[in-house]
Amino acid sequence: MRIDVLSIFPGMFAGPLDDSVVGRARAEGILDVRLHDLRAHAADRHRLTDDYPFGGGSGMVMKPEPFFRAMTALGEQWAFRPRVILLSPQGARLEQARVVELSKLGGLCLLCGRYEGVDERVREGLVDEELSIGDYVLTGGELAAMVLIDAIARLLPGTLGGPGSTVEESFNENLLEYPHYTRPRFFAGRSVPDVLLSGDHGAIRTWRRKQSLLRTARRRPDLLMRACLGQEDRTLLEELLREGELAEATRLVRWMLTGDRRDRGSPAL
Ligand SMILES: C[S@@+](CC[C@H](N)C(=O)[O-])C[C@H]1O[C@@H](n2cnc3c(N)ncnc32)[C@H](O)[C@@H]1O
Repeated sequence: MRIDVLSIFPGMFAGPLDDSVVGRARAEGILDVRLHDLRAHAADRHRLTDDYPFGGGSGMVMKPEPFFRAMTALGEQWAFRPRVILLSPQGARLEQARVVELSKLGGLCLLCGRYEGVDERVREGLVDEELSIGDYVLTGGELAAMVLIDAIARLLPGTLGGPGSTVEESFNENLLEYPHYTRPRFFAGRSVPDVLLSGDHGAIRTWRRKQSLLRTARRRPDLLMRACLGQEDRTLLEELLREGELAEATRLVRWMLTGDRRDRGSPAL
């Protein structure tokens, strides 16, 4: 997959994209990240990429011309137009389901804002989609772009060991993953749950599913509400209710198990 990035600070990407899993994916040609310095596409000899806002107010705004010029130059290289994404705190909040969809595209072009943001005509004229990495404001889109690239890279075929590593993990099926343990068996006065050492794969699978439901109910009831639960999940949730394990999520889970969710209105999360 090819990802083009437009930024006035392309140097920021060295490090996060050079090491570990993403670095390896790049070295093996699974992921092709191309960093473009927006200043190289500035329209004036001072290579200005920002200017004062029309209407006054504090801060600077990123000028439209460098983005448009850069995109025209890139258009000559692309065999097809990739999906163009503006990183923005005003975009849709990035979720794993969207990362999975984006990882299946052939190419992306990421636009990184700075200062007060980019001139609105960039958004109107060039951008297919705006994405936010969370409800907080960063100084620029570069870190957000790196987060997106990292999340996509690990889903590309060949990047991680096998599909298993990304199938059973948090947010798939709107559930958080179960807890993990490794050696030593006893540590700091705590031991590994016996079932994990039992060799009984069915029992291990059931324990993990139950832990996954428990964690999601306690920590992210909003996710549990969206999860598509089967009969086994309902049985496990009933068990958790009987065992008194659900604490503050008790009301929500009771409500989820009582049938038609739509008619009853949801309890406060
Ligand atoms: C300081 S922010 C601009 C914030 C803008 N004035 C506002 O209030 O919406 C500068 C740039 O950082 C990036 N950015 C900031 N927060 C972000 C977030 N949560 N997700 C993605 N990009 C973000 C965007 O590219 C944005 O143009």
